[in-house]
Amino acid sequence: MKRILLIFALIFMTPAWGAEIPDADSAAAKLFAQKCSVCHAMPYPERLDWPHWRHMLGLMRQRMQERGVPEPSKEEWRQIAGYLKSHAR
Ligand code: HEC
Repeated sequence: MKRILLIFALIFMTPAWGAEIPDADSAAAKLFAQKCSVCHAMPYPERLDWPHWRHMLGLMRQRMQERGVPEPSKEEWRQIAGYLKSHAR
């Protein structure tokens, strides 16, 4: 729980939120932008390192299930994870 709060603090205190994402024209970036801005503003990939992203993706999957938001397919998850992995901090 403490770690989640820390992540929140890091994200909300950094002004890069909403800035243009890297490699914005790629299919993976578009998929990320589309699937990850349904419930909140699109997070900036360089905000977190990959271990934190991996953790967040699991949490987000749970949030989608709780809220009945259609989940990305397995292949789409793979693309989103790959995108975050290559652009993480
Ligand atoms: C079903 C709605 C929903 C979708 C879709 C969603 N999120 Fe979230 N997200 C949340 C909620 C709710 C929170 C607040 C923290 C919590 O409850 O876990 C959150 C929080 C976050 C945070 C922490 C900062 C913040 O805004 O509070 C990050 C980073 C994040 N989401 C990334 C993602 C990524 C990456 C995706 C795409 C794979 C995504 N989210 C898709 C619901 C969603």
